[in-house]
Amino acid sequence: MTTDSIKEIQAKTTALLATARGGGITVHEIDSLRDALRFHEYRYYIQNDPLISDFEYDTLYKSLEALETDNPDLIIADSPTQRVGKGLTKEFPTVPHLVPMLSLDNSYNADDLLAFDRKTREATGRETIDYCVEPKFDGASISLVYEDDRLIRGATRGDGVHGDDITPNIRQIRTIPLAAKFAAHGLHTAEIRGEVLINKTNFAAFNESLVEAGGQPLANPRNAAAGTLRIKDPVEVGRRKLEAFVYSLGYYTTLPGRTEDFTTHAETLAMLYELGFRSPAREMKVFSGIQAVIDYCLAFEEGRDDLPYEIDGMVIKVNEFALQETLGMTSHHPRWAIAYKFKARQATSKLLRIEYQVGRTGNIGPVAKIEPVPIGGVTVTSVSLFNEDIIRDKDIRIGDTVLVERAGDVIPYIVKPLTELRDGTEQPIVFPTCCPSCGDALYRAADEAAWRCPNASCPAQALERLFHFASKDAMDIRGLGEANIEKFYKIGLLSSIPDIYRLDFEAIGKLEGFGAKSLEKLRTAIDSSKTQPLHRLLFALGIRYVGETTAKTLAHAVHHLLDLQSFDEEALKGLEDIGPKVAGSVASFFANADNRALLKELEDLGLTLTNDHRKDTTGGDLQGLSFLFTGTLVRLKRSEAEQLVEDNGGTIVSGVSSKLSYLVVGEDAGSKLEKAKKITSVRIISEDEFLKMVGK
Ligand code: IVH
Repeated sequence: MTTDSIKEIQAKTTALLATARGGGITVHEIDSLRDALRFHEYRYYIQNDPLISDFEYDTLYKSLEALETDNPDLIIADSPTQRVGKGLTKEFPTVPHLVPMLSLDNSYNADDLLAFDRKTREATGRETIDYCVEPKFDGASISLVYEDDRLIRGATRGDGVHGDDITPNIRQIRTIPLAAKFAAHGLHTAEIRGEVLINKTNFAAFNESLVEAGGQPLANPRNAAAGTLRIKDPVEVGRRKLEAFVYSLGYYTTLPGRTEDFTTHAETLAMLYELGFRSPAREMKVFSGIQAVIDYCLAFEEGRDDLPYEIDGMVIKVNEFALQETLGMTSHHPRWAIAYKFKARQATSKLLRIEYQVGRTGNIGPVAKIEPVPIGGVTVTSVSLFNEDIIRDKDIRIGDTVLVERAGDVIPYIVKPLTELRDGTEQPIVFPTCCPSCGDALYRAADEAAWRCPNASCPAQALERLFHFASKDAMDIRGLGEANIEKFYKIGLLSSIPDIYRLDFEAIGKLEGFGAKSLEKLRTAIDSSKTQPLHRLLFALGIRYVGETTAKTLAHAVHHLLDLQSFDEEALKGLEDIGPKVAGSVASFFANADNRALLKELEDLGLTLTNDHRKDTTGGDLQGLSFLFTGTLVRLKRSEAEQLVEDNGGTIVSGVSSKLSYLVVGEDAGSKLEKAKKITSVRIISEDEFLKMVGK
């Protein structure tokens, strides 16, 4: 898209926003409204560089929703509103793929790649081959069929010949456009192949919620993505935040009298990117000859943990389609491509014993202690077993040799015991019946996998609640780490959350290791935590299912924390991303008089329970200053950076203008940077300079 057409659509957006705020957008502008929304979705989801704020996007989106509600005959299948699945699908019909979805041949080292190159050169008679190299995404394969520029079908790989028609679920994935201008490239039908993924952060949050609910966590993001594609509730699919990368054009037909305008694989990736798909157009590189390919694969393997999603290797493809045709395929894989698989992050070790940890909600977590073993650069000594069912289902025994996997940021887990190595000395694991901390009898609810300690004043639970409350992501009370909490707890100085705010500093001063300086630091840290933003306090309270994101949603919905008691489950479910489970948990927390008394007590102790303050940080006050981020940030996620601005009293704006105080520039910054350079009042700073401003 040219700078001029971007300007044009921005001007249209500004006009639409003004109309939306004024009298309201009329049906005559519905097409233009849809175009604007599609463009901004592309900027947000594909380019990661939105030009309007979320609020402005929502305003336009809601205008379209309202127009379509009033004029249902104007609803079209590829309208931006039609991503939201309406109701449940019955079952998935089976569909034939237009051409079979083959596998890839695998390679594991430089020698394998040299051999692949030799064979390719021999079969084509070429001296040097151009290869396109791209990441091998570790998710679930999909096929997308577009006809006349509209998405008509999405299917799983299935057995390679037939797949499950999962179109309603596919439509929930924001990075898959519902319409794309293939005609501009001469195409009538296009079958696109790709991989559906769930990124590491969303996967961790999803697993946490599964375990919290007493279920089994999923082994890895791949299983989470594949499983989600098959659930029969598109709305739930939408909630799980899947992403998709497309990596090839599997099949196409051209329009009458037209020919395709590409001759290489790299060109199709660039075309797909330009059409609004997320393709590895940026990560992909074309090299002449195999040595550069090998170097790129090795370098990429080094950096695999830095990516927000999992990849399990690289795919090397002969770039020219004419040569691909010469090479052909076997019944299993094309001869023009090969996967270079990264080293597996698995190892075997001996299971020594099980420890049982008590969580802050009383859940008993079995942890396997294993003989220390290095996996992917980290020494693993403990592996969570999550719950009793997992131990039983996998038949894990003490003394077993176990296969352990650690995938990226994912916590290590036991894939399976190697039963063939048993010598008869292995002992079954006997799950305790009493709490290892307080001795109360454990119980297990009918619909849960977790055993729980019922004793709300169980010391282990109380400690876990305190650890969580003071932790970095919650109230962030420096100096009140786990060791000190335990120390104070043991001598009776601290047994509940309010106790933190009435600590006897004189008594602490008499303890070994507490000088005047550390005492003062602790006092300051506790005092300044009183003005932490409301969402942090909400998260710190440790309400079941309330993670950081949910806490933010809840905090935004009220002025005073206790206002949440007037939200019933229905009202809570009306808030963004809050499902019935979370709503039930939050409603019952606020229905409980003890919990309300706790909040009142915290307020009396000086904590801010309202939303209208700004945290007074030591790092710098951004009151009255406006910020905009551009390019890819390296140290922070964009949402985290924006939160820092807000936490420090600054505001986020959506575009470069003379009203902008600071443009924070990440990697590969584009037009915003160019524009900002022309406005002398805008200060241009790096991510590091920004972090300094906020005292990080
Ligand atoms: S090309 C005809 N490229 O790897 C060859 N596959 O066994 C088509 N995969 O499940 C595959 N990233 O879904 C190709 N950049 C990429 C890929 C990729 C992941 C998956 C694919 C399939 C498996 C191949």
